[in-house]
Amino acid sequence: MERKDADNLSFVLSNAAECTVLLKKSGQFPLDKAGKIAAYGSGLRYTIKGGTGSGEVNSKETFTIEQGLEKAGVSIASKSWLDAYDEVRKQAKKQFFKDLKAQAKAKHENAIMYSMGKTMKEPDHNLEITKLCDTAIYVVSRNSGEGSDREVIEGDVKLAKSEIRDILLLNKMYDRFMLVLNVGGAIDLSPVMEVKDILLLSQLGTDCGAILADILLGKQNPSGKLTTTWAKFEEYSNEGTFGDWNDNRYKEGIYVGYRYFDTFKKRSLFPFGFGLSYTTFEIKAQEVRADKDTLTCEVLVKNTGSCAGKEVVQVYLSAPEDKLDQPYQQLVGYAKTSLLDSGSECRLEISFRLSDFASYDEESESYVLEKGRYVIRVGNSSVDTKIAAVATLEEMVTTLKTRNCLGKPDFTDIKFEHSEPDSIPEGITAITLTADDFEKREVSFDSEVPVDPRIKNLTDEELSYMQIGNFDPNARGLSIIGNAATHLAGAAGETTSQLAKKGIRPLIMADGPAGIRISLKYYEEGENQYDAGNKGMIPESMLEMMGPIAKFIAKMLVGGKKIPKNAVIKEHSATMIPIGTAIAQSFNTELAEALGDIVGSEMEKFGVHLWLAPALNIHRSILCGRNFEYYSEDPLVSGEVAAAITRGVQKHRGCGTTIKHYAANNAETNRYCNNSQVSERAMREIYLRGFDICVKKSQPKAVMTSYNLLNGTHTSEHRGLIEDILRSEFGFKGIVMTDWVMEVMTSKKSVYRNALSNEVAKAGGELFMPGTKKDYERVLTALKDDTLSRKQLEVNASRLIRTIDEFYNAE
Ligand code: BGC
Repeated sequence: MERKDADNLSFVLSNAAECTVLLKKSGQFPLDKAGKIAAYGSGLRYTIKGGTGSGEVNSKETFTIEQGLEKAGVSIASKSWLDAYDEVRKQAKKQFFKDLKAQAKAKHENAIMYSMGKTMKEPDHNLEITKLCDTAIYVVSRNSGEGSDREVIEGDVKLAKSEIRDILLLNKMYDRFMLVLNVGGAIDLSPVMEVKDILLLSQLGTDCGAILADILLGKQNPSGKLTTTWAKFEEYSNEGTFGDWNDNRYKEGIYVGYRYFDTFKKRSLFPFGFGLSYTTFEIKAQEVRADKDTLTCEVLVKNTGSCAGKEVVQVYLSAPEDKLDQPYQQLVGYAKTSLLDSGSECRLEISFRLSDFASYDEESESYVLEKGRYVIRVGNSSVDTKIAAVATLEEMVTTLKTRNCLGKPDFTDIKFEHSEPDSIPEGITAITLTADDFEKREVSFDSEVPVDPRIKNLTDEELSYMQIGNFDPNARGLSIIGNAATHLAGAAGETTSQLAKKGIRPLIMADGPAGIRISLKYYEEGENQYDAGNKGMIPESMLEMMGPIAKFIAKMLVGGKKIPKNAVIKEHSATMIPIGTAIAQSFNTELAEALGDIVGSEMEKFGVHLWLAPALNIHRSILCGRNFEYYSEDPLVSGEVAAAITRGVQKHRGCGTTIKHYAANNAETNRYCNNSQVSERAMREIYLRGFDICVKKSQPKAVMTSYNLLNGTHTSEHRGLIEDILRSEFGFKGIVMTDWVMEVMTSKKSVYRNALSNEVAKAGGELFMPGTKKDYERVLTALKDDTLSRKQLEVNASRLIRTIDEFYNAE
């Protein structure tokens, strides 16, 4: 997609409607002119640009939806309601912090840590609504973030009583009424399903109101599709556990998201892949052809409505069941049309390799395609498809021989016994495949890594520094999440600067995924940069809980430094892009790549080597507090979006992505020490597949392991995950770093310990982040007492130095 560098924000604003999903439409929108609108709901003045935590970008300017609408010429008729709501909100906020402190005390938790990621629930009130003009909107907003999961209570996943009352009233009172959702994840809309126009605006960064105005006025046409199933909360699977302090059992196995809904015949409100447009489309599968095991669907899409728009065509596959049970279907490909004018049509080709969707058989430790009928469906949502072809495989094929290496959970996954397979209509294309059509591969493990000559000569101490992030034995202050870099203010971390004299230069890392997270205001001293206005760096709930000590702590976080009197304060301003889920909702690979390109261009400008994004954990439950950063409940969508963004970033010299959090990091409760128990099959088919796709399609420069454990072993200490799967099986060539492990932040109530730097090194992880004295000493001690081999550290350091070379040689 065409994009001029100077114009990053306007590119985002003029394309963001692709990330929004029109869930219901009556034909009353778009409006023919910007006139008076009665606008209600928390989203008007308390607009959420993106969630909280390390994913929050400190952009120079942000506008509320009220401001965005007004800039577009809309006059807001309901100002007195909005003013009265301000007071409701003020009181609720006071109470929220009071309750938070009391809860932390009752649970004997550190109040500051307890507050991380906690957000205020929507308060109830009795504000009156009267009819003011012809058009009304109600904007529901929700916030969440790192450190806490969402709750199934009113004002969070459930609508608050006053939201339901007012939404239903407005729907009756106004012929033209739109419910707008400024949310980062699914909410339970079951009480308001009678509303005739619903738009999932999502969280789009700097100016959500400008984009909403464009949509209301028909200047942009929504063309996004849901990447996660929206349902009444009680309809979601509760086979496994979620949010338990120590262990979460993924008993639902491969039946995640629509794989569960479709297979177990559960009812959603809005299914996976669903989204409307102001116009309508006709989709016709033309031809399905096979070249070896690559199947290509040719599809004709016609705009049958009255305005221009874009449509997303999706291809699903239903696999036969023999020994292994299968979900009803899985997404195997998708494509988006260009902007089609009313009456015009286009042809799309969607190809996929059957072997990329093989199932994992734990018994034979290999990926297999079982014999039988593979049904190919084409449509524009998971529930709206037509059978386009049937491919019959005459015998079972092993596509990849590997080995089990992920450990075992303490249960077996649920299984689904299918009833009758779907009957196939007459005249459907029939394809026959034999074993010869497939490439049969075997993973080769344990390849030798050459040790770099520069590493051979390093002392044990120097090798230990390389294994640890930015630990400086002479520095004061405390490095903490999102702020452990010295060369770029507000960046999340760096590799060591201790070996600069030996020519080993540091890599600078800054967070994402909704843009680049760095300090807005900073000053320089020599080569170093310091934050000069710390507020944006610490989540609001944490700042509030800190009370009077906030200033002191904030100072420690920025290296214990007072801003010198003569400091020249400068400003960095990074562009906010839509949250991860919204980008994925566009189903537009080119747009995702262009957004990555924006980030890459700014990384070059600010001097960031590694962006700590994309984040592609699966939406296993709608309750995960970080879902907004992640893409989908589906691994194909997750992998494709992460790959596209990576391609966009890595077009830029000396810039790379860090895909995270590898893996099975699907909840925030007790995040440092939670143990995800998952079967080898579910890991490979659901939770690792996106990482595999991203590595193969874009070779990101780095991978960040997750905080959690997998079947009893920290992912960062898991040799099976890192060496066997990521490197040997997926072919990853870059470096592996931990998430930001801080012992002080770990709950004392965990049964599992924190990840340890010496164990990480042993498992083949190159970097323990962000790096403290203790982490450094652990590596050195393990080396001295022979529990960690020098050879392993040399291998780790060689991989790191090669990556550092790649960055600096590219510059
Ligand atoms: C988050 C990561 C982030 C890191 C650095 C951690 O707490 O989980 O996603 O990249 O902090 O800020």
